[in-house]
Amino acid sequence: MDDAIAHYPREHRRSAAMPLLHLWQEHFGFVSGEASVWIAEKLGLQPINILELVTFYPMFRQHPAGKTHIRVCRTLSCAMAGGLELMENLCTALGIQRPTDGEEMHHPIAVSADGNYSVEFVECLASCHTAPVCMVGEELHEKVNPESAAELLGNRESEAGNQQLQWPPHPIERRLVYKNIGRPSWTTDIDCYLREGGYEQLKQALTLSRDEIVNKVKNSGLRGRGGAGFSCGLKWSFIRPDEKRPVYLICNADESEPGTFKDRYIIHEDPHQLLEGMFISCYALNANTAYIYIRGEFPEGAKILERAIEEARQHNFLGKNILGSGFDVEIYVHRGAGAYICGEETGLIESLEGKRGYPRIKPPYFPAVLGLYMCPTIVNNVETLCNIKHIVAIGGAEYARLGRPNNTGTRVLCVSGDVQRPGYFEIEVGALTMGQLIYQMAGGLRPGRKLKAVIPGGSSAKVLRADERFKLKERQADGSTIEREISIDDIPMDFDSLAAAGSMAGSGGVIVLDDSRDMVWALNNINKFYAHESCGQCTPCREGSLWMQKITDRMLRGGGVVEDPETLKNIGDNIAGRTICAFGEACAWPTQSFVGKFPEEFAGRAHKPLPPPLPPEYTPEELIDKESIPTVPMAHDPGWEKAGAKGTI
Ligand SMILES: Cc1cc2nc3c(=O)[nH]c(=O)nc-3n(C[C@H](O)[C@H](O)[C@H](O)COP(=O)(O)O)c2cc1C
Ligand code: SF4
Ligand code: FES
Repeated sequence: MDDAIAHYPREHRRSAAMPLLHLWQEHFGFVSGEASVWIAEKLGLQPINILELVTFYPMFRQHPAGKTHIRVCRTLSCAMAGGLELMENLCTALGIQRPTDGEEMHHPIAVSADGNYSVEFVECLASCHTAPVCMVGEELHEKVNPESAAELLGNRESEAGNQQLQWPPHPIERRLVYKNIGRPSWTTDIDCYLREGGYEQLKQALTLSRDEIVNKVKNSGLRGRGGAGFSCGLKWSFIRPDEKRPVYLICNADESEPGTFKDRYIIHEDPHQLLEGMFISCYALNANTAYIYIRGEFPEGAKILERAIEEARQHNFLGKNILGSGFDVEIYVHRGAGAYICGEETGLIESLEGKRGYPRIKPPYFPAVLGLYMCPTIVNNVETLCNIKHIVAIGGAEYARLGRPNNTGTRVLCVSGDVQRPGYFEIEVGALTMGQLIYQMAGGLRPGRKLKAVIPGGSSAKVLRADERFKLKERQADGSTIEREISIDDIPMDFDSLAAAGSMAGSGGVIVLDDSRDMVWALNNINKFYAHESCGQCTPCREGSLWMQKITDRMLRGGGVVEDPETLKNIGDNIAGRTICAFGEACAWPTQSFVGKFPEEFAGRAHKPLPPPLPPEYTPEELIDKESIPTVPMAHDPGWEKAGAKGTI
């Protein structure tokens, strides 16, 4: 425990609260009341500071689980592949009873009578291409056959571990970050990495000035791969060269956006590439300390990174005076605990400070100005940081030649859902179209099926309908622009084109839906995710996300009323743009776009003429009997009287 505490500055020991909770839970199986008192005392906090974490983060539990705990993914790609049936069959095999009502999807852990097994639904485990997946203890099981769920418990025949990357790469691919992954002779240890030229770019970077590296990154045009697509060089340039406060680098390895599964694979298969990118970035930003915030559901990934950090230390790539450069750097791994909102950079920072993952208001809390411990902090995604190494290797200008103007470099697209060969494909940004991605790389749809819709950038991205026409502006060689009308198949897979098509490239998670899919059901699945993951700070997001879920629940149960599609749209419109963080948009966009683009399906589920004006459990006419609700006389307060209050509340 003392080792864990030493990862954080003495005056910020609170940051160690989550690591200590993980240790406690690993040892005792759950977090007891005694744990809150003990950890609080150890860190100089109040027990409530620990209890608030236990109740906020889904991975911490206050009651024992079974000896073997099974987490089944319930999010869209897994649900489409039979994840819900998997849970049902597991419960039957184990004699576990759990509520079957859709609203109870996240009902607390259910334990078998003999205490040997417990089950729980969890959100996207970042392996959507091998759906359905579940975790048995700490081990990820992929492509589990729902019909033979019991095998998971006995001889464990389902595939465990990572699905291998296709080798050799598809001819349209352009692998940079995934260059080594999947190669027949490739192993993840540092010796293999060094044999293949690893850490040469760190050595090269240490001979350059900080400005030179930042300029290379600026010239490369690299845009963040975590979702927002913000210019990496521009973000870095917000760190003042004469900064007196400590500067921090945080690698965002929270990868929780449904449909996205590229970062976990990098961590598992090429951890030193990420570390090298981070060392170079730390040097360029003059950051002596960096943290890798890795989601709690990646226990194996956390171990791999710890091991890689120790290997790098033995070669003096980190620690004091790295490679004789006079520069000191330390990297620590910090595990999350199951909250999607901790992927949002300010929520992540709060979480790293040992608090609930409540996003901060921007401005003023732009991380580069007021970040970790109110110091300048750069938060970058795993894939973004890996690209830094390649920018140093080939130079910013050369890197910018890959891809398209303003959409440079390569990026990893993750394809899941209704395609024959789901998986990861690294491409030059915009160098292939949606049609090429789906039909040539991902093997097309199942026989006899037609494309219905695509969610192109993680579940937050607006859905695109297969028969839509999109108007895209294209710049000509002479500088003029022309407008082109294209089909979904012709949309180039880059940031600007997908934005022009009314959606976004986001985190690169492409979810494909064929004509067998019910769009009300799909939206309901997505709404459940957001309703569960809202941090609850903002009323429109907290309440609205749940309302959207409950209305689609009602529609699925056959109780939809004619106003429902309009109500759904109104709720979405009243969330987006009215919240502290971009989760508001993330949860509104699916509803707005699904209802807007598939009106016939939503209308088809909304027949009942009588509206309950609010979701079913709130029917004021029935509940509020005016006679029986007493009004309370207002306490005497001259201020209120002056303000003209009527005397009752
Ligand atoms: C609700 C929400 C969830 C997010 N989840 C992630 C995530 O899991 N991983 C990630 O890298 N970025 C995520 N982001 C984006 C981060 O806030 C941030 O923009 C990113 O880590 C910056 O890195 P980049 O510039 O390298 O993309 C999320 C943003 C929002 C609003
Ligand atoms: S928008 Fe939602 S997730 Fe973001 S701060 Fe508000 S309540 Fe939390
Ligand atoms: S792993 Fe199940 S939906 Fe992503």
